[in-house]
Amino acid sequence: MFEGKKILITGGTGSLGQALTKRLLEHDVDAIRIFSRNESKQIDMESKFSDKRLRFLLGDIRDFDRLNRAFEDIDIVFHAAALKHVPVIEYNPFEAIKTNVIGSQNVISACLQQNVERVICIGTDKAVFPINTYGATKLLMEKLFVTASNYLNKKRYHTKFITLRYGNVIGSSSSVIPKFIEQIKNKKSVTITDPKMTRFSITMDEALDFILNATKIGQGSEIFVPKMKAYTITSVKDALFELLENTGEKITGIREGEKLDEVLISDVEMRFCWELDDMYVIHSSINKNYYEGAGNLKKIESMDSYSSAGATKLSNNELKKIIENYCL
Ligand SMILES: NC(=O)c1ccc[n+]([C@@H]2O[C@H](COP(=O)([O-])OP(=O)(O)OC[C@H]3O[C@@H](n4cnc5c(N)ncnc54)[C@H](OP(=O)(O)O)[C@@H]3O)[C@@H](O)[C@H]2O)c1
Repeated sequence: MFEGKKILITGGTGSLGQALTKRLLEHDVDAIRIFSRNESKQIDMESKFSDKRLRFLLGDIRDFDRLNRAFEDIDIVFHAAALKHVPVIEYNPFEAIKTNVIGSQNVISACLQQNVERVICIGTDKAVFPINTYGATKLLMEKLFVTASNYLNKKRYHTKFITLRYGNVIGSSSSVIPKFIEQIKNKKSVTITDPKMTRFSITMDEALDFILNATKIGQGSEIFVPKMKAYTITSVKDALFELLENTGEKITGIREGEKLDEVLISDVEMRFCWELDDMYVIHSSINKNYYEGAGNLKKIESMDSYSSAGATKLSNNELKKIIENYCL
């Protein structure tokens, strides 16, 4: 599927963008264009990868004309560019609307204009019943992608709009484990907002497997969700204390815009939810032959919302192994 293709990654210098680039380069891709704003990050990435198939394009997804030029001759777009830091976005909400919502619509329009074969946008569990601006902007991004092809002339426009939604990538920038590790290494207490807090978690390798699989089988207008385990914040702290050192803990209280638990699929969405081997698909109008050959597609008959509170938890050993492999 990726052999000989020209691929563009918006936000290609980010945590996901770089990991995805590495994985895609293992396939015989023709070229990968990295699209982002900061030139220093691009220079660092260029020297780190040193691969002739990579091209670095400076640009902002808020700028449609720039995107439109960048998408010329592109077969597949991965849309990973976003503002994602919850407190920063709470303080600067309209900046997130400009990037995550208007920028995403620009990506859609440029894909249509350039007849891109498929575009995959990366969503988050924070978009389900959002209580912060980040989640709300990512919900709107999902809505734009899911409905992008509704009113199009199918003979003229071929782009498949594929939406993915998952939870915290272990060890990604600004996530909790690197923060705790830094606190422990500096002999400081780890700061726990609420000991009852739970989160879904996925390793970067699992996220990449899921992204590439969904890219291959996606038909457009659906939301794919991987089956994920979850952790409690205290289990992460315990695992880190066992691996490193017990420097004590401090309860700081839940922050504005934060939930105690996250939800990957709401009870309302369950009505349109299907199970496809190791993932779920949310789609309002498919039948059991829709993803022929891609796995065993089964309608979900009875399931409450898919929440990190109720999901299977990572064991202490699993957590320690993941932390050792991805964070230390
Ligand atoms: N990390 C997670 O746990 C997680 C979980 C679920 C979903 N996601 C989603 O996955 C995607 C990637 O996340 P990540 O962790 O890789 O984020 P990241 O490390 O912060 O990377 C974000 C990338 O987007 C670029 N960018 C930001 N604003 C841009 C703009 N206006 N125009 C062009 N490029 C822009 C950044 O580069 P410049 O600053 O140089 O432009 C950077 O390359 C995001 O959409 C995020 O919402 C992440």
